[in-house]
Amino acid sequence: MLPHNCILGTGYAVPPRILTNAELENMVDTTDQWIVERSGIRQRHIAEPGSALSDLATAAARRALDAADTSAEQIDLIIIGTVTGDMKFPSMACLVQEKLGAVNAAAFDLSAACSGFLFGLNIADSLMQTNGYQRVLVIAAEMLSSMVNWQDRNTCVLFGDGAGAVVLGPASDQRGLLSSYIKSDGSHHRLLYNPGGSQHPPSHENVDSQLSTINMEGREVFRHAIVSMTDALHEALKRADLTPDDLDLLIPHQANIRIIEGIGKRFKIDPAKVYVNVDRFGNTSAATIPIALNEALANGRIKPGDTVGLVTFGAGLTWSSCIVQF
Ligand code: COA
Repeated sequence: MLPHNCILGTGYAVPPRILTNAELENMVDTTDQWIVERSGIRQRHIAEPGSALSDLATAAARRALDAADTSAEQIDLIIIGTVTGDMKFPSMACLVQEKLGAVNAAAFDLSAACSGFLFGLNIADSLMQTNGYQRVLVIAAEMLSSMVNWQDRNTCVLFGDGAGAVVLGPASDQRGLLSSYIKSDGSHHRLLYNPGGSQHPPSHENVDSQLSTINMEGREVFRHAIVSMTDALHEALKRADLTPDDLDLLIPHQANIRIIEGIGKRFKIDPAKVYVNVDRFGNTSAATIPIALNEALANGRIKPGDTVGLVTFGAGLTWSSCIVQF
C-alpha cells in the first residue's frame, strides 16, 4: 500500500474589516436576533471593494508554508478551490504562484463552490500518489461579498470572505489522509447558483437585474446539506475502516449553526466534539474548513494522534468528506 499523505502546515487570512449584524440592520430589513437565531452568525469579515482575493490567498499560503517549514520553490502543485477568483482567467492559482515565487509548480483552480477545499484535498492526494509530487499547496479562497446581492436579506447576512491553506507531503508513518469522498448532484443546481457567466455576459441590463448575484432556496439547501454531509461522513469513515466513535473532532462546513447541530444529531456525535466558528466568520464558502482546521490546531482542539472528520457541502450540489489522523 502507498504511504499516506499528511497535512504538514496550515494557515489562514481574513480581511480586517468586520461587518456586524447591527450594521446589516441598517442595510436590509433584518435584526441581529433573527440572524443569530436562524444562522448562529454574529459577524463576518468583508474585503474592501477592489481588493485582490489572490493577496488573501497568498497570505494564507505563506502562513501554511512557514508552518510546514517549506519554501515556495519546493511546491510542485497549487490547487485553489474558488468561485470568486480575481479574474475570469487566468486561474487565481497562477496569480498566487507568481506572488509566492512557486516557480516549480503547476497551478489550477477548481470550481466546486463550498466543497472546493475538500475536492482539492482529494485531487491533490490522488495526484501525489500517481505523479510523485512531494509538496502540494491546497488553498481555498472566497470573496462572496463580490457576488452577494446586498439588498437580498435571504442571502446577504450569511456570507463572509476569507482564505485558508494547507501544505501536503508524504507521511512518515501511518497517519495522514486516511480516506476521502467526493460527490455531486447537478439536478439540484437551481437551489444555489449565480447565473452570471457566458450565458449572461456582463451588460447594463444583466447587472441591473442582479444576474451576477447569488440565488438560493434556503430551506431546500438546508435540508440537503444535513442529509448529504451525514452520508458523506459515514462513507469516508467506512473507507477508512473506522466508526463515528473513532472521531476525536468533527469539523463540518460552517454555513449555519442549525445545519451543524443537525449533522451532529443525525450522526449521533457529542456536541463537544464538533468545531464551530460560524459565529465569527459566517459562511466563507470553500475557506470554512481550512480556517477552522488552522484554528483547531492552533488552539489545541486537535492534538497529535487525533482522528478528525472534515465534511462539507455546497452549490452544484456538491459534497465531500475526509478523515485525517494528525
Ligand atoms: N432577516 C429577517 N427575516 C428574514 C431574513 C433576514 N435576514 N431572511 C429571510 N427572512 C424571512 C423570510 O423572508 C421568511 O419570511 P416569510 O415567512 O414571511 O416568507 C422567514 O424569514 C423564514 O424564512 P425561512 O426560509 O423559513 O427561514 P429558515 O429558518 O429556513 O432560515 C436560512 C433561513 C437561509 C438561514 C436557512 O434556510 C439556511 O441557512 N439555509 C441554508 C443556507 C446555506 O447554508 N447556504 C449555503 C450552503 S453552502
